[in-house]
Order: sequence, then structure tokens, then C-alpha cells
Amino acid sequence: MTKPFLAALAGQRQPRPPVWLMRQAGRYLPEYRAIRAQAGDFIALCTTPELAAEVTLQPIRRFGMDAAILFSDILMLPWALGWGLRFAEGEGPILPQWNTEADTARLDTARLPDAIAPILQTVRLTRAGLEPHRALIGFAGGPFTVACYMVEGGGSKDHARTRALAYQDPIGFRGLIDLLTEATITYLAAQIEAGADTVMLFDSWAGVLSPLLFDEHVIKPTARIVDVLGRRFPHVPVIGFPRLSGTLIGRYVEVTGVCGVGIDTATDLRFAISHLSDLVAIQGNLDPAALLAGGAALQRETARILRLCRDRPFIFNLGHGILPPTPPEHVAALIEQVRRA
Ligand code: CP3
Repeated sequence: MTKPFLAALAGQRQPRPPVWLMRQAGRYLPEYRAIRAQAGDFIALCTTPELAAEVTLQPIRRFGMDAAILFSDILMLPWALGWGLRFAEGEGPILPQWNTEADTARLDTARLPDAIAPILQTVRLTRAGLEPHRALIGFAGGPFTVACYMVEGGGSKDHARTRALAYQDPIGFRGLIDLLTEATITYLAAQIEAGADTVMLFDSWAGVLSPLLFDEHVIKPTARIVDVLGRRFPHVPVIGFPRLSGTLIGRYVEVTGVCGVGIDTATDLRFAISHLSDLVAIQGNLDPAALLAGGAALQRETARILRLCRDRPFIFNLGHGILPPTPPEHVAALIEQVRRA
């Protein structure tokens, strides 16, 4: 069964662009909030395969997107390596801080297989519950973005600690990125073996780096991940999302060899199109705030993106995740508009 989503990633322009939305499973859906309350905390939800698979499928049942994304989190990788992680209500993730090379030794790769077992079971259950024409997206964080959360000990406005550390302790920081890169390969390979049709690397904070450090900590690790996975699974496309990478997007795609690339909301779509090969699938760009706003503004923004990407491989998506107060009816209207395109 051909999947329009995978055909777009193979570089084929689709008569009607496939569509999914970042954070399509989440707090804006009442049925998500119900399961989330049942699970107790967020990590419990991510490690209870029946509930995680259910939450993954909820938006597909309601809206019929062309792809489902595994319900998990980019921080489940450091969690699986034995690094502490908790999600404080209303505060976001909290982790121990990474300070020096010695801390890298505390990441225990030996426990990874057991720790990720429930997540892989979610992949299997989801694939079994998903119609054959829809794709299942596995994912991980970009090693740099995961390192950001470890070095900062959670979220950050400016990532000052991480950015300074990359200069002050280049060898130590490189060691952390290298370990996360290899663990990410193991983790994504396992998701593919469990049934993921494609995998995506969320490098949400890639754009905070200077161009030289972007090469070092975003492009290099991504190129290695794409290369190793590409040799093991030649038919499984990798999607990159180097958020806020601006003018470096062309270089990122060319050097890493990703099949598809997420375009954030700040990037001018015309710039991205003119700097990327016609064989690479573009994904994204719709402002999540336009989706929150709905109505004529949402229709106009959506029509503009559809028009600009009409003649190339393209996957309709947002430029970042759905905002929690978004009315589900706005999502329904958006999917309907893309379907009619
Ligand atoms: O539907 C999907 O997109 C699949 C699941 C998914 C989640 N997180 C679920 C989640 C995916 C792909 C992610 C990726 C993720 N997680 C990123 C990269 C994308 C991005 O948004 O930039 C990052 C940086 C994280 C780290 C993270 N997880 C933060 C900062 C937070 C707290 C902020 C928030 O939105 O609550 C999370 C928690 C999280 N991850 C939630 C969900 C649905 C909310 C948890 C809840 O239910 O309370």
C-alpha cells in the first residue's frame, strides 16, 4: 500500500499534499486530557504502551491525518540512559545539570534496551492500529537539543550555559554530543525495527548556535545519524527539523542528506524553496498562532503555503507545535482545507 506521506518524502510531488501537525496529540484535545489524567504523570503515560498508543491514534481518528507520530518525548532518551527527568505541572521538564565530562560517564547505555522497551511496544501497538495508507513517524531529539536540556537542567530562555560551555569545554561538550548521537542511532533503529515508517529529529534549539558551532553540533551529528540509519535501513527516510536555523537551512539539508526538512514559522518559505533541492520534501511553516486564531487568517495563511509549495514535494504542517489553547474545530477546518487543495 502506497503511503502519500512516504511518497512525498521520496521526492514525489503529490496531487494533494499529505498533512500532519506537530504536537497533534496533546492538551488541546479533551480525549488526551482524559487519558493523561488516567495515567497520572507524563512519564507514566509515555511508558504505558496501551495508553501511549491510544493517545497517538486519537488525532488520526478525529481528523484523519496522513501520519501519526509516536507519543513520547525527546527527553525520554536521557531518561532511558538513567539521567533523572520529571515534568513539574506548569513548569516543563526538570533534569539534573550536566557540568563536566565526568557527568557523561553517568549516562548508562547498558540500560537503554530495557528502558525503551515500553516505547517500542507503543510503536508496535500503534502500527497495528493504524490503517496501511497512513505513516507512523518515530522520533528523537537532535543531540544538541537534548544536550541543551541536560546542561540547562530544563528549559531556558537564552541557553546561555550551554552556549558558553560549548566554547569553554569543547572536548567535554563534544563527548556529550557524541554519546547522545550514538544512543540516538540505537534508539531510532529500534523504533524502525518496531514499525516506524520514518523517523524525525527534533532539533528545536539548533538556531541558538553560531554557524561554526551549528556545523559542529547540529550538522555533524545529524549527518552521522542519517548515514548510519541510511546504510541499515535504506528505504526509511529521515526528516530533520533544525528549528530557527535561518540561512543555514540549505547547508544543513545538503550536508546531512535528510529526505525531508521541517521549516519553522520564522523562515520565509520562498527563501527555503529557493535554497533547497527539488528532491527534498519541505514540511511545515504554518504559524501555530494562525491555527489558534482560526477563521479567515488561518485560511489565508494555509492557502499561501499550499500555493507556494504546489510544485514540489511537500508535507503540510505547522512551523512548531500546536498551542494548548487551540480549539480542535480550527484543526478540523485546517485539515479540511488541505484536503480540498
Ligand atoms: O504529538 C506529538 O507531537 C508527539 C509527541 C511529542 C511530545 N513532545 C509530547 C509532549 C513530541 C514529538 C515532543 C517533542 C519535544 N519535546 C520537543 C521538540 C519539539 C518542540 O516542541 O520544540 C521538545 C523541545 C520537548 C521537550 C518538552 N516536552 C517540553 C519543553 C515540555 C513541556 C512544555 C509543554 O508543552 O508542556 C514537554 C512536555 C510534553 N511533551 C507534553 C506533550 C504532549 C505536555 C505534557 C502534558 O501533557 O502535560
